[in-house]
Amino acid sequence: MRRRAFLKAAACAGTGALTALRPVPAADVEIEITPEKPGAVINPHIYGHFIEHLGGVIYDGIWVGRNSKTPNVGGIRKQFVDDMKRLGAPNLRWPGGCFADGYHWRDGIGPASKRPRTYSYWESYMPAGKHATETNQFGVHEFMRLCRLVGAEPYIAANVGSGSPREFHDWVSYCNAPAGAESLAGERAANGDKEPFGVKYWGVGNESWGCGGDMKPGEYATQYRRFVTQFPAYVAPFLVATGPRGHSRDMDLAWTEGFFAGMQGGHRSPVHGFSLHFYSDFRNNKTRVADFKAADWYAVLLEGLRTEAVIEAHWKIMGKYDPQHRTKLVIDEWGVWYQPGEEIRPDYILSQPVTLRDALHTAITFDIFNRHADKIEMANVAQTVNCIHSLFLALEDKYTRTPPYYVFEMYRPHMGARLAPMQVRGAELTVPTQEGTAKLTPLMGSASIREKRLTVTLTNPSLDAPVTARLKFAGAARANAGRGVALTHSDMRARNTFNNTDEVRLAPLPVNISNESVVVVIPKQAVAAIEIQLA
Ligand code: AHR
Repeated sequence: MRRRAFLKAAACAGTGALTALRPVPAADVEIEITPEKPGAVINPHIYGHFIEHLGGVIYDGIWVGRNSKTPNVGGIRKQFVDDMKRLGAPNLRWPGGCFADGYHWRDGIGPASKRPRTYSYWESYMPAGKHATETNQFGVHEFMRLCRLVGAEPYIAANVGSGSPREFHDWVSYCNAPAGAESLAGERAANGDKEPFGVKYWGVGNESWGCGGDMKPGEYATQYRRFVTQFPAYVAPFLVATGPRGHSRDMDLAWTEGFFAGMQGGHRSPVHGFSLHFYSDFRNNKTRVADFKAADWYAVLLEGLRTEAVIEAHWKIMGKYDPQHRTKLVIDEWGVWYQPGEEIRPDYILSQPVTLRDALHTAITFDIFNRHADKIEMANVAQTVNCIHSLFLALEDKYTRTPPYYVFEMYRPHMGARLAPMQVRGAELTVPTQEGTAKLTPLMGSASIREKRLTVTLTNPSLDAPVTARLKFAGAARANAGRGVALTHSDMRARNTFNNTDEVRLAPLPVNISNESVVVVIPKQAVAAIEIQLA
């Protein structure tokens, strides 16, 4: 245990002077990787995104308008497009969220000046005197253009709560019917896109247990059947059913049980994906988001680690009804959600500060997703810009990447690679919590292999001390060359702001290769990504 060192660090936490402390010896952790027995392919869609008509996410975050002074590509913020391309963003979920079950897609097509102004679900969240009125300037054609610019696959959440199967099916035909096949294809062409959009991923509602219709799981199963039975299958679809509120204390297992029980006996309503929402929910914690103590740091990481148990518990229930596991998980909302009050602008609701702590949470989450690559088709961070767990903050011509952005960049090599089994051996940390103490593994991570290139990502959660990681390979594999990068900062609360966009950024990490092993010293409170070329 590194208790003494922790107390010293905590005592200085307010001064930003952690680096001035007497160096604390690094703990030793042994990591065994078996590259010769690769597991499931890590679906690139695990590194996916979510953008909703909410606060400053779409309007300003992404859509600045064609006449804006902010550099744009036909109205879409250029810097956003460039950064998303850099990440290889695989998909974009849109238009919500809760917004989806009140959205009528026809409002967002046709000449922009003729589109209606409509009610938004988010109205009641707005500060006094401000409205969430939807202008519909960003509709389906603008969304598809964004997807094309980024190179991302569209994932559309359809309206079940206040929509109808016909409205849904018309939307699908509008997007996917070949030119000339249906009147809707002609209408699409008249609006500027002759060629079909080819949308494969369709969400059948969102949070149908809450803002998406306040249904019981059996009621939703009935709706799901109605909505998908006559689905216009121009493109082989991947249909996603609304899943549980995974962050409920009881994990909402009853939803999963009730939904799949309600689907029994149906033969014409496939469920390709089952949505799971898992927020690390700190909305009731009154600590200021960017001004927290050590116990708050660990609380967020420990809550993030719960993702694993939630995945396993729901997967087990799904297996009772679908022993071959044809239905995969789609974790289409995840992130750390703090209490309101520190938005970048009051009406940009949910645009919370994002710190180094959230970057470590991101890394821990991705490592869990990678380790469960056999179960997960897709995951979508909530939400990509100006929102809960954002990679970017944007306000008119101001823009910054947040610390989690860099984790997406670091983990990019995992996309489409095969999981490499990995074991971590080292003494557990004892860390402070609000209730007392908790145990934490000294390093969390995952590894993947593509041909001879091994990627290892590791998180050192400790606020006290670095960790010396000794990587060994089971079998005949040997390292030829290696390089690393790390994301850390001397202040656990560090973040990037519009005035200081580079406060948290990547730095090179030395990787030492010998005959026997690869040795890397991972700084405290850091995420590391190591690329190893195998002989
Ligand atoms: O991401 C914000 C909201 O959180 C989404 O609209 C909703 O689906 C969830 O409750």
